[in-house]
Amino acid sequence: MRLVRALLQSGAGNIPRHIEHYSRFSPSPLSMKQFMDFGSENACEKTSFTFLRHELPVRLCNIMKEINLLPDKLLQTPSVRLVQSWYNQSLLDMLDYERKDPEEDATLNIFVETLIKIRNRHNDVVPTMAQGVIEYKDAYGVDPVSSSNVQYFLDRFYMSRISIRMLINQHTLLFGGGVNPAHPKHIGSIDPNCDVVGVIKDAYENAKMLCDQYYLASPELEITECNAQTPKQAIHVVNVPSHLYHMLFELFKNAMRATVEHHAADTLVYPPIEVLVALGKEDLTIRMSDKGGGVPLRKIDRLFNYMYSTAPRPRMDTSRAAPLAGFGYGLPLSRLYARYFQGDIHLYSMEGHGTSALVYLKALSSESVERLPVYNKSAWRHYHEAHEADDWCVPSSEPRNMATYKPR
Ligand SMILES: Nc1ncnc2c1ncn2[C@@H]1O[C@H](COP(=O)(O)OP(=O)(O)OP(=O)(O)O)[C@@H](O)[C@H]1O
Ligand SMILES: [Mg+2]
Repeated sequence: MRLVRALLQSGAGNIPRHIEHYSRFSPSPLSMKQFMDFGSENACEKTSFTFLRHELPVRLCNIMKEINLLPDKLLQTPSVRLVQSWYNQSLLDMLDYERKDPEEDATLNIFVETLIKIRNRHNDVVPTMAQGVIEYKDAYGVDPVSSSNVQYFLDRFYMSRISIRMLINQHTLLFGGGVNPAHPKHIGSIDPNCDVVGVIKDAYENAKMLCDQYYLASPELEITECNAQTPKQAIHVVNVPSHLYHMLFELFKNAMRATVEHHAADTLVYPPIEVLVALGKEDLTIRMSDKGGGVPLRKIDRLFNYMYSTAPRPRMDTSRAAPLAGFGYGLPLSRLYARYFQGDIHLYSMEGHGTSALVYLKALSSESVERLPVYNKSAWRHYHEAHEADDWCVPSSEPRNMATYKPR
């Protein structure tokens, strides 16, 4: 009730009109190089402010249009309504700056505070949205059409969220006062000289800690580097280390769980997780291979499904300690981090043996361009078109007996 009153007081009645207005603009993707160049020398706070006060509402409103296209029953879950109220409030916060003067220091200062407030407000979007989807699934089950719509939506929704947080982080880190003492050379969240093996080791150590806690053992790590750009040198690239860390940490957790569970009965020394890092002209590729028994081909695609996990579902109300596996969001979210700057994650598995996860990233910062969802006719159509029957035969359970079969 209080929230509704607050929204009304703040002009929330006009929200649909604002969403309509800003969603007509397409988001403007930036490259990692543009983020860097802008932040390197004499970064101009006013320019960043003027860009963001338009771009953030555009990105918010493009995805808000899509939230409205979700199945009604999902939209009405308390969790999704809560997430929607956060988006509405953040849009209103941003609209306050539509007519503010960038020449005034006070405007710029409170703008940083507003961005931090918005970022904090949206901290729990992923688990809250996940909760909404679970409530919906438990109450109504899932048919293939709504399941594919939800998958399509969540990929776009979380990608939009990653991009909005990237913009907010850049502005607040560059203009929030002072250099980051831990990483004085970073440009916002970007490390112009990211030590890839360092991030791999970091992610491994933290996943190992969880694995040791849970299983009282963990596999070793073996790293091989192949730098085709400057042979025999350690691999350094322009990268967002927190994104790289996120992907590797998730992949390590999966590889460790598979390894330990697959060998549980017969060994105390587990086969190591092997990581190969290769830097070419175009791609930086990281291959993580485990001997954790693998996954049959039939199941590979569904591992990227937000509704799929083979681990018991963790309880929402327990402590915040991160479990080793749980919601089934590890792979799909990691793939989004890779895709965000035009990379990808592929899984190759040999059932009975193990799995290799390949993380593809762009080697060049000029080619690492944001990949952003845009609300348009074709997105709209995706939610509305009836999904047609498959155009391949479904095999019957019994093969036809060709000795007695007579074509009509
Ligand atoms: N390396 C692997 N070997 C075997 N199975 C794997 C591997 N990686 C993933 N899987 C399977 O894919 C499923 C989905 O993985 P994902 O990381 O998305 O979710 P999760 O590990 O179950 O939960 P969390 O959200 O905590 O990561 C896992 O439950 C597991 O069954
Ligand atoms: Mg996982």
